[in-house]
Amino acid sequence: MVKIIIIALDPPPNVDEVEWIENRFYELNGLVSGFKIGLPAVLKNGLESYKRIFKDYKGLLIADFKLADIGDIMSMSAEIIKSYGFNAMIAHSFVGYSNAIDKLSKKAKDLGLKLILVVSMSHEGSKEYIDGHLNDFLQIAVKANAWGVVAPATRVDVIRNVRSKVGKDIKILSPGVGAQGADFGSAICNGADYEIIGRSITGAENIKEKATQIIKTIEERVKICRGLQ
Ligand code: XMP
Repeated sequence: MVKIIIIALDPPPNVDEVEWIENRFYELNGLVSGFKIGLPAVLKNGLESYKRIFKDYKGLLIADFKLADIGDIMSMSAEIIKSYGFNAMIAHSFVGYSNAIDKLSKKAKDLGLKLILVVSMSHEGSKEYIDGHLNDFLQIAVKANAWGVVAPATRVDVIRNVRSKVGKDIKILSPGVGAQGADFGSAICNGADYEIIGRSITGAENIKEKATQIIKTIEERVKICRGLQ
């Protein structure tokens, strides 16, 4: 089984967040490329509670705090992110390059953190402003030597556009499959490297079984779209 999905660990309200994340991490650990932790996981508990869980994890561990500040402050956040064991972080590209992403990119390199920039989003509102600047954001991603960009599975034309502009050097991570409506495998078939999946797996009764079934669906779809079947 090829590892092509990243699990978004966003605990819902009224659960013990640490226990919820720990359960899902142990169930899915061997099946997926990595995990993404966002604000719902950390606003109440902080990062300390999770350090033990991910201590020896060798896959992608992404801090999704969508940094969007001046470079010096984002760099301070990057130091903290690194100190808690993450190996990748997501920032918004709309803050611009000078004194913002340029500094964060340098800090990421110094710390050995993978920098992932949001260039388009999966919700409708992305069309109101963000998508009109896609080319500018891609230029920033290239200039900053970003390891990856986030582009939406809900609009695969955007993924295709991104791939045609950045070539193979930048990874495309794509949320929006499952709970947000896009079909499993559709992002990878249109040029993404990974599909980010949250609730359709993390909210399932049998998490491992659901993940295995979704991965199989993606693999089958990708085989067909790549003409291997
Ligand atoms: P679901 O439960 O919808 O989770 O499968 C999706 C995860 O992806 C995040 N998300 C985004 N992150 N740009 C991002 O950087 C986006 O356009 C975007 N859309 C969804 C969301 O926070 C959740 O963790």
